[in-house]
Amino acid sequence: MMNRTGIIRLLVDFFRRESIRQVIILTDENVEKHYPDYFSELTGWVSVDKVVLPAGEQAKSMETTVSVWSRFVDRQYDKGVLLLNFGGGVICDIGGFVASTYKRGIRFVNFPTTLLAMIDASVGGKNGVNVHHVKNAVGTFYFPDIQLPVDLKLLETLPKEELKSGFGELVKYALIGSEKLFNDLDALPDLNSLKEEHIGFCIDFKRKIVQKDPNDTGLRHILNYGHTIGHAIESYSSEAGTPMSHGLAVAQGLYYESLLSAKLGRLPKEEWEHIDRFLKKQFDIMPITDKFLEKLTPYMLNDKKNRNNLVNFTLIDHIGHADPDFQIALDTLARAICPLP
Ligand SMILES: NC(=O)c1ccc[n+]([C@@H]2O[C@H](COP(=O)([O-])OP(=O)(O)OC[C@H]3O[C@@H](n4cnc5c(N)ncnc54)[C@H](O)[C@@H]3O)[C@@H](O)[C@H]2O)c1
Repeated sequence: MMNRTGIIRLLVDFFRRESIRQVIILTDENVEKHYPDYFSELTGWVSVDKVVLPAGEQAKSMETTVSVWSRFVDRQYDKGVLLLNFGGGVICDIGGFVASTYKRGIRFVNFPTTLLAMIDASVGGKNGVNVHHVKNAVGTFYFPDIQLPVDLKLLETLPKEELKSGFGELVKYALIGSEKLFNDLDALPDLNSLKEEHIGFCIDFKRKIVQKDPNDTGLRHILNYGHTIGHAIESYSSEAGTPMSHGLAVAQGLYYESLLSAKLGRLPKEEWEHIDRFLKKQFDIMPITDKFLEKLTPYMLNDKKNRNNLVNFTLIDHIGHADPDFQIALDTLARAICPLP
């Protein structure tokens, strides 16, 4: 964690070390409105251009990507430029994708402004865009050139519902990585009482897992806990015209994937009951009927980790410990999570 002055100093040192003279800041219109001058001191050291995208998940598309590529080509940027992604997960995801593809790869840095991007999207080198409402259908693995500390002051302007969305991902880290964090979160009076140590735990946890499995071949799948069902709900709601934010969809996924873990006999009943109480207290958990599950199925089957028409899940056996890669048949899933008619 660091303040603005410290971040600028780190960046200037990095630019000097790496002889970087041209920086493009990629941001969205909300972040631009709140922080137009966050990096203003950089202009004393490097030449700075800024690209401001529309805010929100809709912008995470090939169309937006093409518009950014075109701008870079029009301005004749060469391979020496550095892209500084200044925003939430959407900006980190598009920016990383643009950086990995423009001129076959330019340098880039993520500087996250949402809770969700601080603890998740800005770390780990996964990027990409959605296609036809399918989440992250196209993307690459491409790692930022430095990992900056986060500036928690940026969260002061984040709308409450976005903080709640980030909280969904935070709960994921607790369920897969730390029973202590889970109990801490359960005892929080409100989201404004989140502490540095909670956010720091998630960032360190993700970094360690990514270091062990950078190309997402096994262990790293545990970071997808809650996302098999969560991504399907997010994609379905977007296509249905009632978009749900990423973290809120993940919270639904965490609920049902924990229920699945319990129904398959992995997660002890009393731990499931604790998760059930906690998630229902924090989020509006929607019922998943057979009919609704049928609607989610095509999105779940689109997941990159699936094989042979089975759906790949991470499951937990205790609060704070997860195992990846359980291949589950759709009827097993339905029996576990759908209420009896
Ligand atoms: N690549 C990864 O590893 C990874 C991991 C998790 C999530 N993601 C992706 O991240 C995306 C969600 O990210 P998100 O929740 O940050 O959404 P987002 O980027 O859309 O930001 C949420 C909203 O907050 C606004 N905002 C951002 N920072 C602000 C600030 N400091 N003050 C006021 N407003 C601010 C944005 O303009 C936007 O309207 C999804 O597309 C998801 O798939 C990627």
